[in-house]
Amino acid sequence: MRLPYLPFGLVLLILSGLSFSAHAQDKLLPAIIPAPTSLQLMPGRFSWHEFSAIAAPTTSPLLSDVQDFYKQLVQLGVSDVKTGLNNLQFELDTLFHLNPEAYQVVIKPNLITIKARSEQGFLYGFNSVLQTMTVDSVDGTLYSPCLSIEDAPRFPYRGMHLDVCRHFFPVSFIKRYIDYLAMYKFNTFHWHLTEDQGWRIEIKQYPKLTEIGAWRAETLVGHYSQKPHTYDGIRYGGYYTQEEIRDVVAYATSKGVTIIPEIEMPGHALAALSAYPELSCTGGPFTPATTWGVFDDVFCTRPETITFLCNVLDEVIDLFPGTYIHIGGDECPKTRWKVCPVCQQNRIDHGLADEHELQSWFIRQIEQHLHSRGRRLIGWDEILEGGLAPDATVMSWRGTRGGEEAARLGHHVIMTPGQPCYFDHYQSTLPGQPVAIGGYNPLESVHQWDPLPPGLESSAQNMILGGQGNVWTEYMLDERHVEYMVFPRLAALAEALWCDPDTTNYDDFLHRLNIHEQRWQAEGINYFRYYR
Ligand code: ACM
Ligand code: ZN
Repeated sequence: MRLPYLPFGLVLLILSGLSFSAHAQDKLLPAIIPAPTSLQLMPGRFSWHEFSAIAAPTTSPLLSDVQDFYKQLVQLGVSDVKTGLNNLQFELDTLFHLNPEAYQVVIKPNLITIKARSEQGFLYGFNSVLQTMTVDSVDGTLYSPCLSIEDAPRFPYRGMHLDVCRHFFPVSFIKRYIDYLAMYKFNTFHWHLTEDQGWRIEIKQYPKLTEIGAWRAETLVGHYSQKPHTYDGIRYGGYYTQEEIRDVVAYATSKGVTIIPEIEMPGHALAALSAYPELSCTGGPFTPATTWGVFDDVFCTRPETITFLCNVLDEVIDLFPGTYIHIGGDECPKTRWKVCPVCQQNRIDHGLADEHELQSWFIRQIEQHLHSRGRRLIGWDEILEGGLAPDATVMSWRGTRGGEEAARLGHHVIMTPGQPCYFDHYQSTLPGQPVAIGGYNPLESVHQWDPLPPGLESSAQNMILGGQGNVWTEYMLDERHVEYMVFPRLAALAEALWCDPDTTNYDDFLHRLNIHEQRWQAEGINYFRYYR
């Protein structure tokens, strides 16, 4: 049975029994990932057996983890809340730091203080406190060493993505995935909700999107490169109701994670076109794709499509409170547009030189609509082709060049280059790895990654918000396989996005990772372990 989940919580720590790591400096320090900016050990211990009370300035849902933790300590009989002397105190200090996510932790023998200027900072401070807990190897008591931590992330955007279209994952796993992000101080979950192979979000105004678009007839077996293609003959699909989505959004909020939903356009639209073929250039008919790749049938630029997409986005906006909406924009062949009378008339009427400019015109209309609803647009780096929408944020996946170009143009950028940010690539050259799409992104390359490309001028560097790991699931059929591809690279990426490159090194990370692996094992996480 899976234990009740608490990030780095008591149960796991007791099971793992260890929390220290021999660092390169030969000192025993708590094995915190991502490594804090500074950590000073002090004499003494805070005994969790004497733990009595939590003092917090707020009862916000962000602190529910803290309440759960407290309950667990009491239920397990670790702490005697009646006689204990030791307290945990949250101090809100609005002038504390320039970085809204910063925190300070001071652990003294009778008092732990977590200072921050935001609830996000509190969450991160508490997360670090949990990572200091350890069991005394002699008498088995549970304690944290006295210390002080000053910490703040290097980048404001620290994201992980999940494709729930190529394979579908239930709400229970989405919540667990969000737990994993929160464990490593990621603040954004990019939820890839629509694709050629399946539309996964209920849209009330267009019920056929899920009645028809959420289900494919069967799925390719084995790797795409193995010809001839064979199929499993099993109908496959699923989707999230709006109620489920609201539940996931509330859960993520309580963990300090913002969700960015992605609704793909104008390409990767075959599932939507199967439901509403009149939105294509040819009129169809279509069926959701049963194999992988890029498909020629995409949304037509006709006005009905724009209206449809704006209506879809209105429902999406209602569900997701975050600022950003991701509109895809990648891998859109122009084959149909080149011969479609409607698309060609649009191109001529609007004085557009080619189909790239037509795509840009299409996306600008979507951006205007998002702006009218107070939201901002993110797209993959293909949205540069034909001219960027005025306020678009670019997610750079085909290397970093698109991101660099967008940053120089004064646009915000999220770096997620295939190397090393695609966690659907192999992580080992050892035989016996499960079939992956291709590529090779070993743990070290993730840990050593710098989201700021070398040589980029500082004005452009300032436009780079951070980075993200992408998890495309063509070849990940179930939850355990997703975990295997994500762990331990998630921990390495957390460090690449949080830490200054000179405050952490790979060997030191591996020492700390040892401890984390024991926790993952205790939690039943299926992680990859043969990278040394
Ligand atoms: C992508 O990997 N097509 C964004
Ligand atoms: Zn068309």
